[in-house]
Amino acid sequence: RKYTIPYEEIGAEKLSELLHAFYKRVASHPQLKPIFPDDLTETIRKQIQFQTQYLGGPNIYTEEHGHPMLRARHIPFKITPDRAQAWLECMKEAMDEVGLEGKFREVYYQRLVLTANHMINSPNEDE
Ligand code: HEM
Repeated sequence: RKYTIPYEEIGAEKLSELLHAFYKRVASHPQLKPIFPDDLTETIRKQIQFQTQYLGGPNIYTEEHGHPMLRARHIPFKITPDRAQAWLECMKEAMDEVGLEGKFREVYYQRLVLTANHMINSPNEDE
């Protein structure tokens, strides 16, 4: 069977729609809003670059910012298990909004679960 690069499967336009839908939710989430900048323009731009290469597209994040070192770049922020869950909830809702479905969605989401859990660097506030 023919292998399609996930980035080509979703396409640049849909990926951009997804990430805009995602950050719209992040911006109003009580647990996420406080750790993100008020203006998410640059955050969205970088996340589009990152997800493009994460999904097998051109390495445009690395070209501009160097090796992702994602966990290290998240160390300045308190990433608790609750916040990882909230991040994933926002992503699930964004996937619903833009109509991502089927095997592609399942595989992409499960990969994001692993990456989100890997970012956790602090216990929940009340633990
Ligand atoms: C940056 C939070 C998971 C990819 C950031 C920033 C915050 C954040 C606060 C800084 C935003 C800015 O300064 O513009 C979180 C939280 C997560 C999470 C709470 C929950 C687990 C993830 C995951 C990925 C990811 C799963 C990738 C699949 C990125 C990227 C950046 C970023 C690429 C930009 C890094 C840079 O170049 O500055 N994240 N993040 N994050 N995050 Fe996350």
